[in-house]
Amino acid sequence: MKRIAVLTSGGDAPGMNAAIRAVVRTGLDYGCTIFGVHDGYRGLIDDDMQELGARDVGGIIQQGGTMLGSARCPQFKTEEGRRQALDNLGKRGIDGLIVIGGNGSQTGAYELNKLGLPVVGVASTIDNDLAGSDITIGVDTALNIALEAIDRLKVTASSHRRAFAVEVMGRDSGYLALMAGIAGGAEAVVIPEAEIAPERLETILNEAYERGKKHGLIVVAEGAKNNGEKLKEYFHAHKDRIGFELRVTILGHVQRGGTPGAFDRLLATRLAAKATRTLCEGQSGVLIGWLKGVATPTPYPEIVGKHKPLDMDLFQLADVLAQ
Ligand code: ADP
Ligand code: F6P
Repeated sequence: MKRIAVLTSGGDAPGMNAAIRAVVRTGLDYGCTIFGVHDGYRGLIDDDMQELGARDVGGIIQQGGTMLGSARCPQFKTEEGRRQALDNLGKRGIDGLIVIGGNGSQTGAYELNKLGLPVVGVASTIDNDLAGSDITIGVDTALNIALEAIDRLKVTASSHRRAFAVEVMGRDSGYLALMAGIAGGAEAVVIPEAEIAPERLETILNEAYERGKKHGLIVVAEGAKNNGEKLKEYFHAHKDRIGFELRVTILGHVQRGGTPGAFDRLLATRLAAKATRTLCEGQSGVLIGWLKGVATPTPYPEIVGKHKPLDMDLFQLADVLAQ
């Protein structure tokens, strides 16, 4: 393996830059030439890439986002698009690819691998829904951002004896909401894996007030049927009977834009270095994830199309701790 390309794809995640830096510097150490592809699979199809040296990735480890840019690229879902990408890589003599991204991106990587290109993935998404990795790049930073918001909202909620809901990202996964709910001391957590009716939330908040709590805090996942907007509508529609309204804060992309913390910088560095070594030593068709404290390859067929299930024991625990 002498010429390697690297790209970041899908939703950006804090720590992607640390991963790019590790790919470039580990690859150079193996005597490889490294190309950085702009805007994910869009750059592969349009042949938009640049050679990267050690200095090109200097000063980025502490930056959120991705210096290469990221994108959603519908064209790559077609075989024609993927053939175009292969053609471009072939013309440049590039014989291996590293894909830093989440579920969709790794599905695309596997499709390319099936066409004969050696590909290795790096598990990166704030959603933490990727099979083959206990935790993925960006999760820890995104959680800390959510927690900072929750802590602040609890202060004002207590002062005014108000009820608040905070909606966090996660697409179809309730992981971020559950963990933010436990770490933030929420009265209730609403996730797609275990929907709770608004009527039940009303009871939970009322009981919390009766037990002497000064605030009521719900953490809700964006993927839940009763998301932040729906809960706001319900509490507003029934405010006279309930006796209070629910203030809703939707965190959205704020959670993706943070400066990566120590955990994400180190996780990204270790996963990406392992991915580069794996490719340089001739293994491919695998996702590098963090399993039981070790950067570990898992063959694509074992992870593609699967969603990592949520640990529902933690959901029960959140309920117990809310007493
Ligand atoms: P993430 O990787 O963060 O889950 P997406 O699901 O949006 O983000 O996927 C990112 C990109 O990966 C898509 O825009 C597309 O280019 C590519 N991709 C997703 N699913 C497939 C697929 N089934 N086949 C080929 N490419 C795919
Ligand atoms: O997959 C990461 C993520 O941030 C999800 O949590 C969220 O649902 C989605 O991306 C948002 O996508 P976009 O940035 O395209 O709005």
